[in-house]
Amino acid sequence: MDKVIDFINVNREKYLEELKALLAIPSISALPEHTADVVRCAEWCADEMRRIGLQNVKLFDTPGNPIVYGDWLGAPGAPTILFYGHYDVQPVDPLDLWESPPFEAAVRDGEIYARGAADDKGQVFMHFKAVEAHLKQNGRLPVNIKFMIEGEEEVGSAHLDDFIRAHKSDLAGDVVVISDTAMFARGVPSICYSLRGLVYFQIDLRGSSTDLHSGVFGGALANPAFVLAQMISQMKDRGGHIKVPGFYDDVKPLEAAEREAWAKLPFNEKQYRKQFGIPKLHGETDYTTLERVWARPTLEVNGLLSGFTGEGAKTVLPAVAMAKISMRLVPNQDPAKIADLFQAFVEKLAPKTVGVKVTRMHGGKPWIASYDNPYIQAAGRAIAKGFGREPIFTREGGSIPVVSTFQEELGVPSVLFGVGLPDENAHAPNEKLDVANFQNGIISSAYLYEEIGRTRQ
Ligand code: BES
Ligand code: MN
Ligand code: MN
Repeated sequence: MDKVIDFINVNREKYLEELKALLAIPSISALPEHTADVVRCAEWCADEMRRIGLQNVKLFDTPGNPIVYGDWLGAPGAPTILFYGHYDVQPVDPLDLWESPPFEAAVRDGEIYARGAADDKGQVFMHFKAVEAHLKQNGRLPVNIKFMIEGEEEVGSAHLDDFIRAHKSDLAGDVVVISDTAMFARGVPSICYSLRGLVYFQIDLRGSSTDLHSGVFGGALANPAFVLAQMISQMKDRGGHIKVPGFYDDVKPLEAAEREAWAKLPFNEKQYRKQFGIPKLHGETDYTTLERVWARPTLEVNGLLSGFTGEGAKTVLPAVAMAKISMRLVPNQDPAKIADLFQAFVEKLAPKTVGVKVTRMHGGKPWIASYDNPYIQAAGRAIAKGFGREPIFTREGGSIPVVSTFQEELGVPSVLFGVGLPDENAHAPNEKLDVANFQNGIISSAYLYEEIGRTRQ
């Protein structure tokens, strides 16, 4: 193992240069004009996987973006890791807020800045380098490993579940490893044992067949913008409680032990608030901030559009109004059931004065694991070696819908070991990854393969 770790330490500068090449590919899955870049990025990953010594490397076509697969299965009798990550990234707008171009990675003050640095290219690349170090130095890995890197995570992984169902035996393994989450704080390595789920909707209201003069006609018919605002205002009360009937029925209450453990975490509420530049935090009454983001469901407006939004004033009655609304779900809420409840609620809230169209978009189930799982314990030992500090166990508010698919379709548990930081601007301008965490992440991953290689269920 020493040889492996020495190799990783010697090559630290080279890793950054290599990562820059991956970060230079604008693999934005949400924008059709980047489809060729997305494919180019999949090919880049496949080439890299061949270069580091993985076998059976290939791109699987899906009705959407390709899935990159590669494995190394030369450790008979040892467990098999199924590694999952994503090579697609979020759009970069607003571009003018970036301090350096999003696809020209730049290192400043110990951070590498680029779209995808933390979410998720940097963290996938960490594992490429850990595999490479083992194979270069020892000619073998202490574990079997299958890599599966997808290109549609940021747009809801529409084709992934079908792919997994169609390749169950190819993907069989003992444990899923994912590095696509954040550490609790700088210097506090973390293992995530729960993610929130998601349901996402678009609501379109239609009033008159065209925009109208608001003086000539105003007062005689409903304004869709106003109706939409009234509908949205009925979705939550002032205490942040969601008013969709039945919404909380399946919510698993927080355990007292969890609440006590979280209250002891080094969480600085004031500092947390300051990062947003807001005067006061807001959330559901009777819950702490950590509880609100880790273990309570939410309903949020992600976008709102109607009427005249240019400079100046225009006296108009808009013909249409649109909102994007999503809900983060917690165990044991079921996205399909919540989607039905929400749709029925919206249809009930809509007055007869407008036409309403409710469109369901992507979604995913929430996930929770118990952390006495031996693979999670193995990850804990690896991270302690890589970071020189025992990890803590956290939940996260974000979603990785495939985690529950792995559990349900393959019966395989997941270990979520991420090295991002909460302030690394994932999905926002100036996304970055801490270079020391990246390096320690490679070392931890190298140890992780060894620790999992020794683990018996
Ligand atoms: N890596 C994130 C998920 C994440 C971030 C989990 C931070 C925990 C902590 C992932 O790339 C992501 O953004 N997921 C989407 C899923 C959605 C598009 C279905 C999300 O959470 O919004
Ligand atoms: Mn991600
Ligand atoms: Mn993301």
